[in-house]
Amino acid sequence: MSKVYICTAIPYVNGNPHIGHAMDYLLSDTYARYSRAKGEEVRFQVGTDEHGNKVFSTAQKNGISVEEYAKQNSDKFRTFIEELKISYTDFIRTTSPEHVRRCQEIWRQLSDHIYSAEYDGWYCEGCERFVTQKEYDENGGTCPDHQKPYEKLSEKNYYLRIGDFKERIREVIETDEMKILPEFRKQEMLRLLEDAPDISISRPKKQLSWGVPVPGDDDQVMYVWVDALSNYITVLGYPDQDISDFWPAAAQFVGKDILRFHTITWPAILLGLGLPLPKNVVSHGHVLSNGQKMSKSIGNVIDPIEVLGKHGLDAFRYFFLHHIDTFADSDFTWEKFENAYNNELANDLGNLVQRLATLCKKNQIPGQPAPTTLDSTYCELMDKFEFNKAFDFVWHKVQDLNKSIDEQKPWELAKNGETEKLQQVLSGLVEGLLDVAVLLAPFLPDTAEKIATIFTAPEITPPVTPLFPKN
Ligand code: MSP
Repeated sequence: MSKVYICTAIPYVNGNPHIGHAMDYLLSDTYARYSRAKGEEVRFQVGTDEHGNKVFSTAQKNGISVEEYAKQNSDKFRTFIEELKISYTDFIRTTSPEHVRRCQEIWRQLSDHIYSAEYDGWYCEGCERFVTQKEYDENGGTCPDHQKPYEKLSEKNYYLRIGDFKERIREVIETDEMKILPEFRKQEMLRLLEDAPDISISRPKKQLSWGVPVPGDDDQVMYVWVDALSNYITVLGYPDQDISDFWPAAAQFVGKDILRFHTITWPAILLGLGLPLPKNVVSHGHVLSNGQKMSKSIGNVIDPIEVLGKHGLDAFRYFFLHHIDTFADSDFTWEKFENAYNNELANDLGNLVQRLATLCKKNQIPGQPAPTTLDSTYCELMDKFEFNKAFDFVWHKVQDLNKSIDEQKPWELAKNGETEKLQQVLSGLVEGLLDVAVLLAPFLPDTAEKIATIFTAPEITPPVTPLFPKN
């Protein structure tokens, strides 16, 4: 059994989970379930990024201790992940003592590549990120993501010498040894790498008190991204334990806004530690609400609990995995969500299950074993992380089965007493639907299980309530 490690970005705990956060989880969970279906042993990390000024100042605004605030919000993310039935194996909090200690050890191991200097430049508090003069000029001095002017910083920082790793990083990106998906993001990252400066990896304690102390310098705290990125290996036990069973990660899932940290900063850290680089870095777009970025001030933030409450978990998973583009930005609207539920889940799939189970019961067609192999076209798409396309492929099969019932008219075969043909047709349809259930399982685990239970039973019985009842 081969071993597969899957990683997700760890959200800041300065607010509640929103539907955008679901993307990392759903994509990685789909890949995890698919990998298990192929017989691989999966380790799957999720967690929360709890240090940094944003978390600290939001806790202060809320009038509670930062420790308590981080814990409360970390718990909210954990609950959200569990509500989405994300099949993770490891949950990491960056404030855990093991993580903090391991981060400090990582810092010590990187010391040959670290130097200290004065930083004199721009910073975005919202991104918790240093900004180059070129970027400052291009964006007219204001962060496009946070609509806040960049701050001028002049302070002592430790730096990671990016020049030590730049050529190697370019090589692994160009040759797909560390594959960045989609292709246009790979090109974007290669351009960014060209003039990537050395990476600032600490901040003075008086600017950033809520973080991991730099070993050997009481006045400095690790820059939140160094602490956050390290989670992917500290959760496996690095450097106390040998992590080579699972590291390098088969896939890391991140949003487009944080791809640069995962394709420049993170590889530089790993190369400095002498560790191999992740095999795939999959970057998804952002979920928009009515065509706009979700924001509290516009008032268009979609509460995931409300979406889950509407038609349950698999309707949520269906919409985000089939209708939200795997790689590009795409839009959530209640209208699109309702249409997908009614026209596709209820009409295409729910009806198919109900109709076929009813016909089988009436004509005493027994269930059959579920298939154990996966379709090769589907696997090709899943291996390329083309989840939308793989889902389309499965959905065409659902639609073909509906067409096939309409064309073969089993009720007429029954009426005309063509028993043998009837059995053949219905058994073929059951086989087709069980095949669909296997392919659907990484996307809609509950629905796939329900279909498998109905059509593998010795006596097929339609569900009392249809799988996706209409409103
Ligand atoms: N804490 C950092 C990640 C550290 S990873 C070592 C961070 N946190 S975040 O809370 O801002 O974002 C967490 C993840 O959610 C990122 O992958 C980000 O791209 C994703 N999303 C945040 N808003 C999103 C949407 N509206 N749509 C899709 N994904 C979004 O960055």
